[in-house]
Amino acid sequence: MIKKYKLGEPIETESVVDDIELTSGIPQGLVSGAECTFCIEMSEDTRVYGLGETVRGINKRGWRYISNCTDDSIHTESKNSLYAAHNFLLIWNKNSTVGYYIDTPEKVEFDIGYSESDKLFIRPESPNAYIYEITPDLSGNTSEECGTDSPLASVVRQFRHIIGKSYIPPLFAFGYGQSRWGYKSREDILSVITEYEDADIPLDSVYLDIDYMDAFKDFTINESAYPNFEDFVKSVKEKNIHLIPIIDAGVKIEDGYDVYEEGIKNDHFCKKEDGTPFVAAVWPGRVHFPDFFKPETREWFGEKYSFLLDKGIDGFWNDMNEPAIFYSEDGLREAFDKIRSFEGKNLDINSFFEFAGIIDSIKNSPKDYKSFYHEYKGKKIRHDKLHNLYGYMMTRAAGEAFEKLCSDRRILMFSRASYIGMHRYGGVWTGDNQSWWSHLLLNIQQLPGLNMCGFLYSGADTGGFGADCTEDLLLRWLAVSIFTPLFRNHSAMGTRQQEVYRFPHKDWMRGIIRLRYALIPYLYSEFMKAALCEDMLIRPLSFVYMDDERACDTEDQLLIGDSIMIAPVYTQNAAGRTVYLPEPMNMLRFDGDRLIEEKELPPGDHYISIPLKEVVIFLRNGHVLPLTKPANTTAELDLNDVTYVCYGALEDSYKWYRDENAHP
Ligand code: GLC
Repeated sequence: MIKKYKLGEPIETESVVDDIELTSGIPQGLVSGAECTFCIEMSEDTRVYGLGETVRGINKRGWRYISNCTDDSIHTESKNSLYAAHNFLLIWNKNSTVGYYIDTPEKVEFDIGYSESDKLFIRPESPNAYIYEITPDLSGNTSEECGTDSPLASVVRQFRHIIGKSYIPPLFAFGYGQSRWGYKSREDILSVITEYEDADIPLDSVYLDIDYMDAFKDFTINESAYPNFEDFVKSVKEKNIHLIPIIDAGVKIEDGYDVYEEGIKNDHFCKKEDGTPFVAAVWPGRVHFPDFFKPETREWFGEKYSFLLDKGIDGFWNDMNEPAIFYSEDGLREAFDKIRSFEGKNLDINSFFEFAGIIDSIKNSPKDYKSFYHEYKGKKIRHDKLHNLYGYMMTRAAGEAFEKLCSDRRILMFSRASYIGMHRYGGVWTGDNQSWWSHLLLNIQQLPGLNMCGFLYSGADTGGFGADCTEDLLLRWLAVSIFTPLFRNHSAMGTRQQEVYRFPHKDWMRGIIRLRYALIPYLYSEFMKAALCEDMLIRPLSFVYMDDERACDTEDQLLIGDSIMIAPVYTQNAAGRTVYLPEPMNMLRFDGDRLIEEKELPPGDHYISIPLKEVVIFLRNGHVLPLTKPANTTAELDLNDVTYVCYGALEDSYKWYRDENAHP
């Protein structure tokens, strides 16, 4: 059951695609507090899921989250906002299950037992929002293709239904990708490919970070570093390897640069109050931001991707689209004036901190977000009122263009900033994480929330983006990322290089990556079923074992598809870990891609030793895990050559989803 309520005059986000009749008033479950605050009482056993890409655990209770797409690379638990705004909550206990979607592009604060441990407050920044209240619908919820829903699954499925089907990538996007900010030239890329070949490690894609562009200009190629780019793309494709370039939101201001000139001529850029284009700075220095809210601007920018599509490119990642602002022209001027005012003064503790904070405060400044405008549905609207939709609209520009330019094939697309609705056009990666063990756990815990919000194609920078990665961390991270649809090793310039072939135990890493390829028939099939049935690929245990308190409290094990559970090691120097089994399961131990042990385990706690080179998977009772022979690229996988590992009396035969369209 879904009820839609309207508060004030909300801005349409186009995240919901279904027409739902309005119910008057406010949702019964939301006891209205002060203006624009909603309150839900939480009993001791209430758990709160959702919010997609946020810090902290799967159960969000006990912290304050603010939906405000933010370019911030230090994802500590003290943060309130990351790159995305995913305003969906699933609140449940023994007696009730309910979902809320707060649809507004403005900031929303979710205070989930932070101010008062037994209350959940929702505080939209202004009293304008659509609120969707979703309760389980268990009547006739069984279908042959999509199975039976639990109350939790029913709420998620109904929500997913109203927001439209998730983006589906090409098959190669399920292969392993290598990326690093700092590959400078064609030679650097070739050397990565050669090293992978020499080490006999599978690889499907190499990512091109900002260095492939000419002076960080979108839709240009640095010709001296990448001569004959098109031939290069083609020669790499002959090895079944895809090059995936980055596209940034800001367009460099430079006379003679076609994208800039066309943008000015045809009025595609965001403007200040006085009607002049807003000037911010990102990688290339001064840029303008395209006003992706205008359909004609989306069309114009989207068609620009054909500059690269025409050269054989078939995947992209959209970045800096919160949008990230290093500084604005006005902000910089003010900062210099302020700095000058300190000159020659005796700085005491207060004035020194104020002085030291000046430079920091110019980055992603709230004042800048209030100083430019969009044209949306015939109105001029200040950016901060629409902020959380900017990355969504940028990725929508690409998605709409792909539908037009290459409707016969799938293009890989994922973005850093996102809002619900963008899941129809692309996936997400979780941004600039760090090579920290705590971020490996964060990666595990973000996945169910992302899946609830429709972002099935998602994953983190494997090995961590910032900071130096160690061999053991990378091994453990690979052992998690082999289960996420997006599987990419990415790191920042200046950090330790973390391509797997650089480590002494690269053979162990090869084994784990080969296991990923063996799992692709299963992962692809489960992904497709989740996308088509509006379901989750990655679920917390409670979705299946709702009456099992221990299972519901488990925050470091996940169900991947219908057949398997994973319990990854995510702590330093651990030789194994305790795993909780809610039902008898078959433990499958893999040394790389070789299945070396199968052991039936009864329900309860088990300490499982998991050496660094091994991966342990738990096969659910009555289920099947199809495995194929690994290959060095997805194109070389023989998807017909599958063996089945089965456990217990099978309830049903395995529904193996295969299709013709998976290849680009
Ligand atoms: C941003 C992205 C990161 C990329 C870098 C340079 O920080 O999040 O993935 O490597 O920009 O383009």
